Amino acid sequence: MNIGIDKISFYTSHYYVDLKTLAEARSVDADKYYVGIGQEKMGIPAPDEDVVTLGGSAAYPLMKDGELDDVELLLFATESGIDQSKSAGIYVHGLLEMSSRCRSVELKQACYSGTAGIQMAIGFVARNPTKKALVICSDIARYELGSPGEATQGCGSVAILISANPRIMAIDPESGYYTEDVMDFWRPNYRSEALVDGKYSTMVYIHALLESWKQYAELSGRALTDFDRFCYHIPFTKMAEKAHKKLCRKCKVETSAEQMQLLLDESLRYSRKTGNCYSGSMYVGLTSLLDTADEDLANKRVGLYSYGSGCVGEFFSGVVQPGYREHLYTDQHRNMLENRSELTYQQYEDIYNYGVPTDGGEYVFPQYKTGPFRFSGISQHKREYESLVD
Ligand code: CAA
Repeated sequence: MNIGIDKISFYTSHYYVDLKTLAEARSVDADKYYVGIGQEKMGIPAPDEDVVTLGGSAAYPLMKDGELDDVELLLFATESGIDQSKSAGIYVHGLLEMSSRCRSVELKQACYSGTAGIQMAIGFVARNPTKKALVICSDIARYELGSPGEATQGCGSVAILISANPRIMAIDPESGYYTEDVMDFWRPNYRSEALVDGKYSTMVYIHALLESWKQYAELSGRALTDFDRFCYHIPFTKMAEKAHKKLCRKCKVETSAEQMQLLLDESLRYSRKTGNCYSGSMYVGLTSLLDTADEDLANKRVGLYSYGSGCVGEFFSGVVQPGYREHLYTDQHRNMLENRSELTYQQYEDIYNYGVPTDGGEYVFPQYKTGPFRFSGISQHKREYESLVD
C-alpha cells in the first residue's frame, strides 16, 4: 500500500519587505541578499497573525473541500509556539470545526519537526488505512534587527494531508536520519528572536545531509542520479544550492549549472519570495516545485532533505503520482503571492517592535489583512481568534 501526500496547501502573510529596502536601511549592497543569499522578499506577519492563524489559513482550503472529514490525527509542527502547554493545533482544530474524534499534539525540533510529523502520520495511516492525518507546519522566522540572520526572516505555513493511496506523492519507505547535540541555532524560552551561530549552522546542515544521505543510499540502493528533482530545507535559497553541490561532490557526480537549475530551481521560487518558514520550509519548496514545474512530474522521484538545527537531518524521497496537478492549489498560491502588500522600512520596524501584551490585560487588536482567521485579542491570559468566513 502506498502512503503519502494526498493534499498540500500553503499560506503566507499578506505583508512583505523587499530586501532592497532592508539593504538600503542596513547600508548593504542589495545583491548580497538577492544574489549572495538568494532571497528577494521576506514575509512579515501582521500583528494579528500568529502560527495558529497561519496554520488555520493553510488548512482552510482543505476544510472547504471536505478533505478533513476522515482526519483522526492532527500534528502541529512549530518552533514559534504560542503556549508552553496547549498545542497550537487545538486552536486550529476548533477554527476548522474538525471532529472531536481526533488526536492532537504539537511537535518541536526546530525546522525538522514537520518531517517528524509526516513520518508519524505515515505510521498512523499504515495502522488505520481508511483514516487520514493532517500535518501543519507553521512558523515565523525572527532574528534580531541588524543581525546577519535578519535578511532570512519570513513566515508561512503548509498543511499536508497524509493518506493511503495518495493523490499527490507516495513517500518511499527508506529514510536516512541523523541526530547530534550541537548549538548552531536555538531560542531560549525568554526570547522572541532566535540566536544563531550562522556560519557554523551552514556547516552542520551540510554534515547532517551527508550523513543522512549515506544511510539513505545504503538502505535504498539508489544513487543520486536516480532522482528527477530535489527539495531541500530552505533557510535561504543559496543554502539549498550549496547543499546540493556538496552532495554531488561527495557522490562524485558531475552537475552542470543547467542540470542544477533543472533539479532545484522550481523548488526555490516560492521561498525566494517568502523567506524562511522554518518547519514548513522544505514543504514550501515541494509546493513550489509541484505548482511551478512546466514538465509533468508524474512518476518522477523527488529527493527530500529536511534539517532542524540542534540538530536533526533526514533524507527521504517520494514519487509524484499521475494526475497530481488536479489536486493542487496552484491558482490560490499564485494569487496569494501576487496580491501581497509591500511594507516600507518604517512599517516593518513598527510591526517588528509590536509585542503581544504579556501583562494579563484585556486587549482587542486592530484588524490587518489576513487570511480567513485572525488573532483578535487577549482576555484573561487567553488568546482569542476570529473567523472572517462563514
Ligand atoms: N553581491 C553578491 N554576493 C555577495 C555580495 C554582493 N554585493 N556581498 C556578499 N555576497 C555573498 C558572499 O560572498 C556570501 O556568499 P558565499 O556564502 O557563497 O561566500 C553571501 O553573499 C553571504 O554573505 P556573508 O557570508 O557575508 O553573509 P553573512 O555572514 O552576513 O550572513 C548567514 C550569512 C550567516 C548564513 C546569515 O544569513 C545567517 O545567520 N542566517 C541565519 C542562519 C541560517 O539560515 N543558517 C542556515 C543553516 S541552519 C538551518 O537551516 C536552520 C534554519 O532554518 C535557521
